[in-house]
Amino acid sequence: MPEADEKKEKNFYIDIPQKSKAFFLKGSNNSDWGMKNRMSHIFDPDTGKTVMLAIDHGYFQGPTTGLERVDVTILPLLPYSDTLMLTRGILRSIIPPTYPNGIVLRASGGPSILKELSNEQIAMDIEDAIRLNAAAVAVQVFIGGEYETQSVHNMTRLVDMGQRYGIAVLGVTAVGKDLVRDAKYMRLACRICAELGATYVKTYYVEPDFDTVTASCPVPIVIAGGKKIPEFDALKMAYNAIEQGACGVDMGRNIFQAQDPIAMIQSVRMIVHRNAKPEQAYEFYKERIAKKQKKE
Ligand code: R5P
Repeated sequence: MPEADEKKEKNFYIDIPQKSKAFFLKGSNNSDWGMKNRMSHIFDPDTGKTVMLAIDHGYFQGPTTGLERVDVTILPLLPYSDTLMLTRGILRSIIPPTYPNGIVLRASGGPSILKELSNEQIAMDIEDAIRLNAAAVAVQVFIGGEYETQSVHNMTRLVDMGQRYGIAVLGVTAVGKDLVRDAKYMRLACRICAELGATYVKTYYVEPDFDTVTASCPVPIVIAGGKKIPEFDALKMAYNAIEQGACGVDMGRNIFQAQDPIAMIQSVRMIVHRNAKPEQAYEFYKERIAKKQKKE
């Protein structure tokens, strides 16, 4: 039995109304506590932004350049990531369970690069996502692709399962080879993902008018890095995307294929979380490389 609460003078702070703060991410205010908590493991509540490190490429293209040995090349980057996007296979086999930040699990798959990529299906049970303590699951959505409807239904089924357990769903807009990557397409694809329940959306940065893509999407948008480009250009792209309303990056190749991946992810963080200009972040990047070369 607990001891009786004998204190006579209790303080109910009658003069202080209980605060009810709006959640920091757009589109999530009406979500349940668990979902919001998970989103706070993906996005930094102080800045409202995220640097997601995307290393899930192997799910359709095998040992991608820079990911041949995730244990060697990626583990040193973990301390600089807010979130890790990956497959459950790599998570279980290589990532230490002490990783403290958000896990976004690749939940769709099927075809390899040798086949029609839009022919994906849901590739994991939601129970396994829960078992792995995932903050979100990610699914490709191929608007305009051959298996458009199937991929949209993969997403809506994951949204239903995710809502049941408070797991967020990241809708990834996958642009087929024959489609034009412009703001008009991205507005269409991102809005469809959000309308059909994605908690947040990943898309590509496009010029001009990326701000119309973020403005017309009622949930947060993060940008993929895409193919490896020169480091300064990748930093400029991240800067432009954030300036135009993106809530972060989900970057892979432009980090792990950079000359110095640790310096690169730190430079990306400067832009995403500290509003650094691309020139400042690139200066930092070059200094880091110069220091390293001096030591060698
Ligand atoms: C591709 O579909 C994967 O989902 C990647 O996570 C995504 O493309 C982001 O990686 P990257 O910055 O290399 O484009």
